[in-house]
Order: sequence, then structure tokens, then C-alpha cells
Amino acid sequence: GAPVKADIGKLEPGQMVVVEWRGKPVYVMHRTPEQVADLPKLDSTLKDPLSEISEQPDYIEGVERSLRPELLVVVGLCTHLGCAPKFRPEVGAADLGGEEWLGGFFCPCHGSKFDLSGRVYSGVPASANLVVPPYSFEGDNVLVIG
Ligand code: FES
Repeated sequence: GAPVKADIGKLEPGQMVVVEWRGKPVYVMHRTPEQVADLPKLDSTLKDPLSEISEQPDYIEGVERSLRPELLVVVGLCTHLGCAPKFRPEVGAADLGGEEWLGGFFCPCHGSKFDLSGRVYSGVPASANLVVPPYSFEGDNVLVIG
């Protein structure tokens, strides 16, 4: 299929939009500097912190899993059985682990939890991180998925 373009110039820190690509929802989130700085703190509570068994392009690496540190781009389908995880950015959410929850995505189907890089937590049914699709940029403001 053809690549999909999205204007991300107005995506504010903390906000997420959903872009459809090949019939799948792609979550595009502008992480704040604090949210980016928090990512390494979670490594010991995650199944695949460096995405060694998770699906992502070769040019994606590290805890940020992104080309630009602030911008997360992941397929919004749970790697367990394909439900759409909910965006839950609020730190300390009582129903998601309280102080240990630094924001991320929660799958309502069977309770899988993912951080703000789409990395899966230990102790949940999903075993891999959310998939990072192939993407690039045109200039500062246009994201090209595919
Ligand atoms: Fe997400 Fe099962 S489909 S936890």
C-alpha cells in the first residue's frame, strides 16, 4: 500500500493522535522531555526493554524506539490478541500500579500494559512490545508512515 502522511506540526507535548495505515491504527504521540527521561527507569520491569525480540525497523533502537526522541510512532494493536490499547498517560494511575506507573498504554481485553515507548511490562499476557512501523519525515512537520 501507499505511504500515509500526517501533519504533526500541531501535536502538542503530551498529546496523541491516531493515523490509519493499511487498515491499522498507528499511535503517534509527542512525549514531553520528562516522559522521555523516565523511559530508562522502567527497564527492570519490562519483558523486552531493548526490543530484542520485538518488531521494529533496523533504524529504530534504544529505549526511545524512535527517530526523534520526543515522537513515538507505534501500531496501536496489542501484541497479545490485537485489541486497541488505551492511552493512559497519567503518572501514578491507581488502577495501573500507582507510583510505578509512569504513563503508557493499557489493553482492556486482558490487562497488558505498555510504557510510553510501547514496551510491554512483565506479568501481563502480551509478550512483545507494540510494533514500530516503517516511517520517515518530510521536513519538520510531516510524518510519512510506510
Ligand atoms: Fe491485549 Fe489480550 S489483547 S491483553
